[in-house]
Amino acid sequence: MEIRAFAASVVHSGDLDEKLRPPPRSLTDECPGPATRPTAPGRPNDLRIVDARDARVPPAAGFCDLAQRPRILHALLNHELQAVELFAWALLAFPDAPPDFRRGVLDILREEQAHVRLYRRRLEAYGGQVGDWPVTGYFWNKVDGFATPAHFVCAMSLTFENANLDHTEEYATAARSVGDEETAAVIDRVHDDEVGHVAFGWRWLSAMKAPDETMWDAYRARIAWPLRPALARGRAFDATGRERAGLEPEFIRRLEAAERDAS
Ligand SMILES: [Fe+2]
Ligand SMILES: [Fe+2]
Repeated sequence: MEIRAFAASVVHSGDLDEKLRPPPRSLTDECPGPATRPTAPGRPNDLRIVDARDARVPPAAGFCDLAQRPRILHALLNHELQAVELFAWALLAFPDAPPDFRRGVLDILREEQAHVRLYRRRLEAYGGQVGDWPVTGYFWNKVDGFATPAHFVCAMSLTFENANLDHTEEYATAARSVGDEETAAVIDRVHDDEVGHVAFGWRWLSAMKAPDETMWDAYRARIAWPLRPALARGRAFDATGRERAGLEPEFIRRLEAAERDAS
């Protein structure tokens, strides 16, 4: 089977289990093109993307309320599901990207599928089911800006996943504070994988930017409003995670200085 056919099934299938089927190790990449850029994923009826106003999610502090925990886990799962689909999207959109880039995207996709399954287990432990709450399309709504592989990693790896280094720490702390060690361990695992995903974006932006561009300028030039440095971090700031991902000190310093709620 070709990577392209696998990626198309992940994006377009309306069946969750099909989206979560891991890529076979034997996938080939002999016919990666032509490029296609789907603007929305296939979804089961109960996971149709709705307007953000119709899918409000409690903050991490809501973890202390037993009734809110499955809602929070459902929202975290939805972020992971969009990541699965958008890494598959990148395989459809960028057939001419270097083979190592495409293999790296496929490896991340596999980990994102594992994250969905891990959150699904915790959701079910609280009596929830996938599809019990409406879901947003926060990542999908930005695909118009993903013009090149470098734009893609600036948005996915260096903005969304970068911010998730902080969000996961906040949610793990919230889970631990109410004694839910099992959920906290799942979130820790997602955090550790996310370090690798941010590192992937950093490496490829380094390789794809112009030689005389700084990494900060290269990043800023490839994200479009509403994406901005303030959305690449959470309320707390995990400097260590970013060091582990290989980000240079100046980039980390600038991110830390970006006001989370400022434009
Ligand atoms: Fe993930
Ligand atoms: Fe990720």
